[in-house]
Amino acid sequence: MERIRILQVGVGSFGKSWVDIIKNSPEWELAGIVDINKESLQSVAKEYHIPSERCFTSLEEAIKKTEPSAIMNATPPKFHKDTSIIAFDAGLDVLTEKPLSDNIKDAREMVAYAQAKNKKIMVSQNYRYRRQPRTVRKIIKDSIIGRIGYIVINFQRGPRFEGFRKEMDYPLLVDMAIHHFDLMRYITGENPVSIYTKSMNPYWSWFKGDASAHILIEFEKNIQISYSGSWVSTGRETSWDGDWEIYGEKGTILWKDSRIYVVSDGKTEEVEPIKTDREDRYLSLYEFYCALKENREPETGGKDNLYSLSMVFKSIESAKSGTPVSFRTL
Ligand SMILES: NC(=O)c1ccc[n+]([C@@H]2O[C@H](COP(=O)([O-])OP(=O)(O)OC[C@H]3O[C@@H](n4cnc5c(N)ncnc54)[C@H](O)[C@@H]3O)[C@@H](O)[C@H]2O)c1
Repeated sequence: MERIRILQVGVGSFGKSWVDIIKNSPEWELAGIVDINKESLQSVAKEYHIPSERCFTSLEEAIKKTEPSAIMNATPPKFHKDTSIIAFDAGLDVLTEKPLSDNIKDAREMVAYAQAKNKKIMVSQNYRYRRQPRTVRKIIKDSIIGRIGYIVINFQRGPRFEGFRKEMDYPLLVDMAIHHFDLMRYITGENPVSIYTKSMNPYWSWFKGDASAHILIEFEKNIQISYSGSWVSTGRETSWDGDWEIYGEKGTILWKDSRIYVVSDGKTEEVEPIKTDREDRYLSLYEFYCALKENREPETGGKDNLYSLSMVFKSIESAKSGTPVSFRTL
């Protein structure tokens, strides 16, 4: 198997865990690490035994000196575009952390730029690469509960982040709900038609921007989704996937606290998650590898991801206008 050389760009609180994942994935060779913050760079280099000649504060220099074929981009969202463009210009493919960008214009430009340079861009969207959503999608595809009518999702957490999220206007929608929006598209296999959002910042919130939202989304095939999400829950916490109730004509799928149940004919049966060799970011990284080797669009390629990301920005548009927003154009 021919390994592909990849640079890890951004080794902050999440990026550094990518170093470990890359080092433990046999298809990949870590070419080096890049971070504009010297302290983070040195501490990650020490922890993962990366020699100083493979650690850089400049992406351009890192590319020149280590000759990678791809980058894994875990910089904060507002830097995704500039860093990805440097990589495309150098002839590299890009795997990026979600969200593709912190605004839809840059996201579109990134996708178009990659296409013009004949390079691939994939968003990791690791939540959908877990076993549970893969299992839920299979239950639906196998028609166990019949055609879906509506879905109710509740997401409640109370994380105390430092850094960029505290300053965002809509931290929940941009940095978190993108996972849930992408899961909605993955699980239903459909795209959104309209979205109506009431966004808010509960009075005790420790975020500057809105940390909670109630959202009604209509999907194709008349699937109606009700989503409540919060990053300032002070009591009960759901899993990071949230609690899902999926209602069909023959029964209900409950996906709660990472366990899956089918409720039908008065009986509740737990369903074991399907077995996969890898999951989560190990699987998204493997998907990126396969897409490069097979020269095909990855499952969560940038172009497809524009649909998930546009849910974020249409949701914000709706929150600001107080009216439903349609997806006639992305
Ligand atoms: N998939 C998930 O579940 C998940 C979880 C957490 C974070 N994330 C995503 O990962 C990304 C990073 O988040 P984080 O929490 O690690 O942020 P962070 O702020 O902790 O780290 C970002 C790092 O990027 C560095 N950086 C900034 N600009 C750079 C540049 N131009 N070149 C090189 N390095 C640069 C910073 O110095 C910092 O060390 C974000 O897009 C975030 O949404 C995803």
